[in-house]
Amino acid sequence: MTRAAVVCGLGGAVPSTAVPNSALAAQLDTSDAWIRARTGIRRRYVIAPGEATSDLAVAAGRRALDSARRTTGDPHADHTTDLVVLATSTPDHPCPATAPAVAHRLGLSGVAAFDVGAVCTGFLYALATAASMITAGAAQRALVIGADTFSTILDPADRTTRAIFGDGAGAVVLRAGTDDEPGALLGFDLGSDGSGAELITVRAGGSRQRSTATPPPAGDEFFAMEGRSVFTEAVLNMSKSAHTLLDRIGWRGTDLDRLVAHQANIRILRAVGEQLGLAEDQLAVNLDRVGNTVAASVPLALADAAIRRTLRPGDRVLLTGFGGGLTWGSTALHWPSALHVEPVPGMADPL
Ligand code: ACO
Repeated sequence: MTRAAVVCGLGGAVPSTAVPNSALAAQLDTSDAWIRARTGIRRRYVIAPGEATSDLAVAAGRRALDSARRTTGDPHADHTTDLVVLATSTPDHPCPATAPAVAHRLGLSGVAAFDVGAVCTGFLYALATAASMITAGAAQRALVIGADTFSTILDPADRTTRAIFGDGAGAVVLRAGTDDEPGALLGFDLGSDGSGAELITVRAGGSRQRSTATPPPAGDEFFAMEGRSVFTEAVLNMSKSAHTLLDRIGWRGTDLDRLVAHQANIRILRAVGEQLGLAEDQLAVNLDRVGNTVAASVPLALADAAIRRTLRPGDRVLLTGFGGGLTWGSTALHWPSALHVEPVPGMADPL
């Protein structure tokens, strides 16, 4: 038995404004049929003017802390939370990090709090960071949040990105435990390839553009993506990372009950599932209802599967993600019993 980080709380949040495919088709040269067939997405949520990433992060974090209190039966569990890690690529401000403000609003002032940026892999990087701090004894209990509001950085005229991305937040509470407990994170695989940085980017807004006297070309403030190359890289790297992690922890693809992968495109999910020898009903899917929510994607898909009880106690679950950077990452766990997860308002609304 060794010290490990154990999942004991889970929650999510999406904004109140739903944007079905039909609403995009009314504004752009696209159609519900194209978006459904090429991505599997039918709806996404966007924040209202004045709202920000931290608002969603606080809502998801509050639900995850509540879930941990109910799951552990300890009404004072929050007192031992000493770490907040927020994965986001759309912080409230370029400076400072958003995590300290989120911690403060959750009543966790004084704890270690910082942001992690790995775009769609952000949650897995944040989870690995928090779990490592717990196993090293540098933290006892961590709130790990993935939250993004890509609607704030999309080009309103870009049918490709607007069809895919939605806003949201998901959060997990990790406590110190042992690696033989259900819910223990059994290992990580993390990787990157900076030679592909240009495939997923917001060109303007950082120090490179600000350090020059020339204003950036129009449109460089928006998120841009080479869709086809990203598709290929996503399938390749999520499959590779999943296999590396499985080898590391001594599982085979056929041992898995459920794959909770980054929700980018149903065709990507199917291709990764195929590489691992999984049937379609073993794939967690909620992108039809929320789109690609970037750092929120994996924890929101986890929350959705837990609420719908497609994750059962004891299930062998693999989480994998891929995103800008390029970055990728995977982890695995036996799904814990009696994890109390509240419904995410909006996510289950009929399509
Ligand atoms: N509606 C109608 N037509 C569209 C739309 C749309 N919403 N989007 C693209 N098209 C068009 C293209 O313009 C192109 O038209 P053309 O042939 O006249 O040039 C045509 O459809 C085919 O384009 P492709 O890019 O080949 O379409 P594809 O089937 O590859 O689907 C998509 C595009 C959905 C973007 C896909 O490539 C994809 O899912 N890529 C991966 C995205 C991803 O995984 N992102 C996650 C990582 S991002 C992150 O980390 C933040």
